[in-house]
Amino acid sequence: MKILIIGGGNMGLTYAQSFLRSHITSKEDMMILEKSPQKAEELMQRDIGTVYGRPEDCIRQSDLVILAVKPQDAPVLFDIIRPLIDPQQVFLSIMAGVKLQTIAKGLGAEKIIRAMPNLPAQIGMGMTAFTSSESVTRIELVMVQNLLNTTGKTVYVEKEEAIDAATAISGSGPAYVWFFMKSMMDAAQDMGFNQSEAELLVSQTFRGAIELFNKTDFTCEEWIVKVCSKGGTTEAALASYEQNLVRDDIMAGAKAALLRATALGKAE
Ligand SMILES: NC(=O)c1ccc[n+]([C@@H]2O[C@H](COP(=O)([O-])OP(=O)(O)OC[C@H]3O[C@@H](n4cnc5c(N)ncnc54)[C@H](OP(=O)(O)O)[C@@H]3O)[C@@H](O)[C@H]2O)c1
Repeated sequence: MKILIIGGGNMGLTYAQSFLRSHITSKEDMMILEKSPQKAEELMQRDIGTVYGRPEDCIRQSDLVILAVKPQDAPVLFDIIRPLIDPQQVFLSIMAGVKLQTIAKGLGAEKIIRAMPNLPAQIGMGMTAFTSSESVTRIELVMVQNLLNTTGKTVYVEKEEAIDAATAISGSGPAYVWFFMKSMMDAAQDMGFNQSEAELLVSQTFRGAIELFNKTDFTCEEWIVKVCSKGGTTEAALASYEQNLVRDDIMAGAKAALLRATALGKAE
């Protein structure tokens, strides 16, 4: 299967490297279309497939076209490639906020899959939600899911609105985690640890808590009960969080992200 990635930036490169690393495709079947000559040169040096500068040289040969340009570059890209595509080709878009219908209309194509990855995809620890238009077959969907799985875990959602919700949870989510980590690092430094000690204490604590959660059947609440002893230190911290409505604030943050994702989708 020949794969063409349009846009060899951060995500385009992440996908190309993940597919090759997992041997799901070969360099011979990997094509990248990049408009910036400087980036194209850098991609060629990496030896991850054939790099093209002109869409007419690569679009028709590909079984799957991955759209990995910035959302604001989508209208121009659609205009350029619309006359070149085969309407039966499968398109996978990772462009944030660009709807299935917009892509279908822009390209004059029917088989569209829309995915929302997140940054840890760069290290194979990503979380991707994806959905598709009705014309995509089960086989095509499985083929694309296998590719997406090389960057981490995936979930298929029936309703496109769930992509906005995934954007608010897993798409933006790494930043929420880093925000919480930074707050704990600041607290550690206030208590006398130096920066590197604070980073170690906090990052290893997050890592351990997440691994423990993933490797057992206990819920977050059950783990909290296990850590808290009556009148102890953890209970004191959690009581302060409750009193300061930290949980409500975290939920409000995620909901603000959802509102923004929905508004950006409507503004297209
Ligand atoms: N980064 C993330 O974590 C993340 C998460 C979820 C979704 N996404 C989505 O992934 C997409 C790519 O993001 P990114 O961070 O990888 O962007 P990026 O680094 O800017 O890469 C996009 C590349 O596409 C090139 N390009 C633009 N128009 C083109 C065209 N017509 N033909 C060929 N190449 C073209 C750009 O070249 P120029 O620089 O010359 O314009 C740039 O090299 C975005 O739509 C974003 O919403 C990203």
